[in-house]
Amino acid sequence: MDQGHMKIKGGRKLKGEITLRGAKNAVPKIMVAALLTDENCVMQNVSHVVDTRIMSEMFTEMNCKVSYSFTDGAMEICAKDLKPLSLEKVQNYSGLSRIPTLTAGPMLARFGKAFLPRPGGCAIGQRPIDFHIMALEKMGAGLHDVEDGLEFTCTKLHGAKICLDYPSVGATEQILLSAVLADGVTEISNCAIEPEITDLILVLQKMGANIYVDVDRVIRIVGVEKLHGFEHSVIPDRIEAASWACAAMVTDGEILVRNARQIDMLTFLNKYREVGGAFHITTEGILFSRGGKFGSTIVETDVHPGFMTDWQQPFVTVLTQAEGISIVHETVYEDRFGYVKSLNKMGAKIQVFKDCLGGKKCRFEQRNHMHSAVISGCTPLHAAEIEIPDLRAGFTYAIAALAAEGESTLNGIMYIDRGYENFYEKLMSLGADVTEYVK
Ligand code: EPZ
Repeated sequence: MDQGHMKIKGGRKLKGEITLRGAKNAVPKIMVAALLTDENCVMQNVSHVVDTRIMSEMFTEMNCKVSYSFTDGAMEICAKDLKPLSLEKVQNYSGLSRIPTLTAGPMLARFGKAFLPRPGGCAIGQRPIDFHIMALEKMGAGLHDVEDGLEFTCTKLHGAKICLDYPSVGATEQILLSAVLADGVTEISNCAIEPEITDLILVLQKMGANIYVDVDRVIRIVGVEKLHGFEHSVIPDRIEAASWACAAMVTDGEILVRNARQIDMLTFLNKYREVGGAFHITTEGILFSRGGKFGSTIVETDVHPGFMTDWQQPFVTVLTQAEGISIVHETVYEDRFGYVKSLNKMGAKIQVFKDCLGGKKCRFEQRNHMHSAVISGCTPLHAAEIEIPDLRAGFTYAIAALAAEGESTLNGIMYIDRGYENFYEKLMSLGADVTEYVK
């Protein structure tokens, strides 16, 4: 199936402003929270990216009332007449998005049964769900292997002490969404504390949940009998904000990213300034530009509040324009440098290694995963025809094309639409020279 393509002529300075809406990695999880109550739930600042659309369709098929207004980004969900989907239908939706996996808790609470698809890998790694399964079993769910999937059954989940081997965002969300209506206290240690997790906790607290965020990555949830509706404005997308910041830098432009929040981007802003970027925090958002000469650096991705793995890809494009040797050690995903091949095709000089380069040892040490990259800069980039493998690489290639000499063709722009609302319109409003755009 043609996945759309665009042609970008490099050399233009991107100038102007774009407005962020709700984070792609927060909106669909908060939508899942709406399944925990019969009452009306209202979300503001919802971006209509693919995951939002998929979950809207899935919930509508589950007999929820879902309404969305494109103009003001308001979404209403009422799950009063919720009905479960067959495993086959859950499978179908799970083939399109990872979010259906998170409906297990609400479905167990409402129907005593839930289906989880067999996990599928993607362009950045295996993406297993063993932590999710371990947690649900610890909370009393019975696990039955059924054809092509996993069926969980339980009359009522009970609280449990759960220690995650790794601060997984998805597993933390799975446990939060399951524990709020469980019997008793659930304690998650070594949990994720990303801003998107905190936003979900704020929603659950508004609904009547008792959630305590303790020190050193421990969260305790005291289950309640019933949860109420909520009204919530979703936090802005810090990943999109960082991508536009990188675009401003490599094109020597200036972009005001409206609604970007300093608090969510602290580590990114430190690194951005360190390599020569400039930013100005305003009441409307963050103004990004190139400060001075590009400088090289060492980056080790990590869980929050570290340098986020989703910032790594666009940032590497900046490092190709920096004088000197930079190192990026990807410690969250085992296989997140596949995209550099195409950057090298455009003139970059990036080598990948299985060693933990940069200082810290990580889970992938000597396990044959090419999870460290060495970038030699500065390498002028030239146009190329590129296949997009995933959404973050897609924006990264657009950034490279904006900086490259000549006209590049990016095939597979449907991946970009997965995570970035109105990407084409935003590019055009900033003065990019997009010579062709076919969805
Ligand atoms: C979320 O994925 C985000 N996706 C990812 O963004 C983000 O990169 C990631 O969190 C880390 O911040 C959404 O929110 C939809 P994890 P998630 O569970 O929850 C391992 C993007 O482009 N793991 O924190 O799937 C896993 O393999 C995407 O927006 C297990 O081993 O990430 C990985 O190595 C990319 N077993 C690490 O933990 C499990 O059961 C982090 O995964 C679960 C995870």
